[in-house]
Amino acid sequence: MSSATASHASPVYTDDHHAGDHHAGGPAPNRRDLVKLIATAGAAIGIGAIAWPFIDSMNPSADVIAAGAPIDIDLSKIGEGQQIVVLWRGAPMLVVHRTPQALKTLQAPAMIQQLADPNSVVHQQPAFAENWHRSAKPEFLVLVGICTHLGCLPNYMPTPDPVSPAPNWMGGYFCPCHGSKYDLAGRVYKSVPAPYNLPVPPYRFVDDKTLRIGENPPGIAYTLNDIVQM
Ligand code: FES
Repeated sequence: MSSATASHASPVYTDDHHAGDHHAGGPAPNRRDLVKLIATAGAAIGIGAIAWPFIDSMNPSADVIAAGAPIDIDLSKIGEGQQIVVLWRGAPMLVVHRTPQALKTLQAPAMIQQLADPNSVVHQQPAFAENWHRSAKPEFLVLVGICTHLGCLPNYMPTPDPVSPAPNWMGGYFCPCHGSKYDLAGRVYKSVPAPYNLPVPPYRFVDDKTLRIGENPPGIAYTLNDIVQM
């Protein structure tokens, strides 16, 4: 391991969390304010939700999170189609075990033509995720769960639906704050408020069932400071 000792992560929630309603009655915060709010809310959620049902793990201490120490996730506990959310550096990290159907949808022309940056040209990910699935392994997606518009937490809505949350929904992330849409690789749609794809954090696979967030594969130097926008 190249940095601090990895901790095992406790997933904190699976979907439907956002921070979009914090500014009623006061001056509208800017994007940086909202990202701070999310980090604070995420830490509180983590304290209250450590008994998440199917991960047997230890919650990293606040000091460990603040230091950015890597965290390990047991991928064998994440079923196909499921998402878990863990905190790293106080921010929500989304880990999804994508289904074969979801991977097909990512490559479908009907999806690609709706995307603003389908080939991940804008630097929002490490080089190993500059591909159609934006990940090191197609079946596993790892993202920073912060909308690139004003910092809300997009909802995980993997099931296609003709009506909701938007017409002809093909599955992905929907940000309820201002309606931004992303696919199941975190690629942002055209003509929505969010300008960029969701960021990808540094991570690597320690073995077939262990994902380590916060540490790159050997020979790669990448941090979230390298991306265009958190
Ligand atoms: S924060 Fe505005 S659409 Fe997500």
